[in-house]
Amino acid sequence: MNQIPDKPDVDPKEVDNQAQAEEAVDQLRQAIRYYNYRYYVLDDPVISDAEYDALMEDLRVLEERFPELQRADSPTQQVGGEPQDELGLVTHPLPMLSLKAVYEEKDVRGFDEYCRTELGKEQVEYVAEPKYDGLAIELVYDDGRLRVAATRGDGETGEDVTANIKTIREVPLVLLEQEGVPRGGRLVVRGEVYMRKDEFRELNRRRTEAGEAPFANPRNAAAGSLRQLDPQVTASRPLHIFFYDMPDAESFQPETQWQIMQALPSLGLRVNQSQLSSCAGVEELLAYHRQLAERREDLPYEIDGVVYKVNDLADHETLGTRSRDPRWALAYKFPPRRATTTVQEIEVQVGRTGQLTPVAYLDPVELGGVEVRRASLHNQKEIERKDIQVGDRVLIERAGDVIPQVIRSIEEERDGSERKFQMPEQCPVCGAVVVISEDKKQAHCPNINCPAQLRGRISHYASRQALDIEGLGEKRARQLIESGLVERLSDLYELTEDDLLALEGYGEKSAANLLSELEASLQTTLPRFLYGLGIPLVGQHLVQVLAQRYATLDELMAASADELTDIDEVGPQVADSVVSFFAQEENSRLIEAIRAAGLELANPLSEESPQPLAGLTFVFTGELERWTRDEVKRHVTQLGGRATTSVSGETDYVVAGPGAGSKRDEAEARDIPVFSEQDFIELIEKRR
Ligand code: IVH
Repeated sequence: MNQIPDKPDVDPKEVDNQAQAEEAVDQLRQAIRYYNYRYYVLDDPVISDAEYDALMEDLRVLEERFPELQRADSPTQQVGGEPQDELGLVTHPLPMLSLKAVYEEKDVRGFDEYCRTELGKEQVEYVAEPKYDGLAIELVYDDGRLRVAATRGDGETGEDVTANIKTIREVPLVLLEQEGVPRGGRLVVRGEVYMRKDEFRELNRRRTEAGEAPFANPRNAAAGSLRQLDPQVTASRPLHIFFYDMPDAESFQPETQWQIMQALPSLGLRVNQSQLSSCAGVEELLAYHRQLAERREDLPYEIDGVVYKVNDLADHETLGTRSRDPRWALAYKFPPRRATTTVQEIEVQVGRTGQLTPVAYLDPVELGGVEVRRASLHNQKEIERKDIQVGDRVLIERAGDVIPQVIRSIEEERDGSERKFQMPEQCPVCGAVVVISEDKKQAHCPNINCPAQLRGRISHYASRQALDIEGLGEKRARQLIESGLVERLSDLYELTEDDLLALEGYGEKSAANLLSELEASLQTTLPRFLYGLGIPLVGQHLVQVLAQRYATLDELMAASADELTDIDEVGPQVADSVVSFFAQEENSRLIEAIRAAGLELANPLSEESPQPLAGLTFVFTGELERWTRDEVKRHVTQLGGRATTSVSGETDYVVAGPGAGSKRDEAEARDIPVFSEQDFIELIEKRR
């Protein structure tokens, strides 16, 4: 399969017998496997994501209609199966060795000299590659089909993580068949599972937000994600793999490490080709290390050094193994990014959602080329878990360009002058009484006008799930705050055209647009408004729950914590948060001010009135007869839908009146249905 297979042209609806289905399923699977190879291994996709998704969907539909064609190794099965009680053990076909690690140039010279002497060669050829800071993994394929995947464990036996490994899309369940690389019999391959730095940061951001402990580094995150009992959890984590070894292949006898690194991708196994290098002699080895050290920060994944392997596999036999380390390989590591320093002070920062985060101010220390002065301690619970006190000596680590983490305190070095940290009872910025969750993982400033939060508050209030005010993102919000025009949320409704025109970047049209968006936002629903207020711990689901129980905002505001906890899904922490939010004078004043501006809250949930337009996004263009633009937008919102101003992939319908121009063309180009005003009215009526 060296050329692109024909894109299968299957309409699953037209397949009406088993034989046809079998052929179609076969074609689809082969095509998908090939497209995976193009995407993950060659990094050179030949179809769009949408086309790929459509093929997967076709396959899924056919497998559902013809269950006897279902296979455990079908590409549709890479989603995560049932949770397990425990991870079983797997004995490695060949021991998984470790690598001798050195930190100095002279040791690399020593390694090369040893190889030359033992092999009786003047110059030895090596393969050099990054040393990935992830988790080593072994995969065993039988006749091209993935049988088992295991972690390294003690080198002899590892944990069975087959179900979890299968959720990584880059791992083929069936190897590719290409010329020159037979895949028959047993094939053992090894590589490193890792998490990208950006994905690691995003995962930690979400974890901290949810009050969960963040991972210390991408390696821990990858290991934690792979060693899960529930494959669904693994499937939800961004994991990747680079293969770097093929210690056993029944039907294939590579002669060099370089050949192995070429054979792996032909089988569909992803190799980090761009950083792989063939080096003749020690100077080239050292040059490779220098170059990679320079590139280190720019790589999207963590590495902690380089690995050198003698290229000729026959030489591996000659050189042999000493205790657990092969003599034919060496890790030349980068200087460590761990250091010890002293915590001078722990201060509390107020983030844009009102979250209070303790931050350690450290005696400046160099770590992997940058000076570190501070590190987030995440929350009170983490501080207690790591036992960190002001004045402590602590061990810190910086993983790549990832934010430095305090790993733990060094208790033996305490002299009694250290002081425990306590989350303040009042917000350090505005003085409001802080809300601390029972498990001490979350602390919030409940004052909606706290200056530390205002910018984030505004853009949250304006966000699509909240009041849906287009053109009011973080940048605009910052500008409004910095200009002094907005000191609290309700000031948004006092803005005038002149105010906006005086700001950079506004013209008459954009000023008028924002004002009419603001005006229209006043006609909204209770759950949207509640969500927009950003009550700590109350997210999108809970606002719905609250709006089901309370018909009006006043009723909710009058509710006691006891009454709130009577609701099934409301626990004591949420109840406290709601009550203390409305108890803040600033907050009730703010709500009053928005009401005075003309707030009208519908509550579709309490009246159980239908939401005929739920989930639909509309764009209106041209003239409308029955409504003004703002009225129609309000109407759509109250019926559960959204109205936006530009046509995008998210648009479901364009409603075009006389004079419609480019938006109508855009809709037609994108195959989005274009309705007349009358069609729209009928749609509402039909759905009601
Ligand atoms: S080769 C004997 N190649 O290093 C060959 N290992 O200390 C050993 N590692 O647990 C494996 N990047 O997780 C090899 N490019 C690379 C590697 C690599 C990282 C890790 C691997 C293993 C450890 C050995």
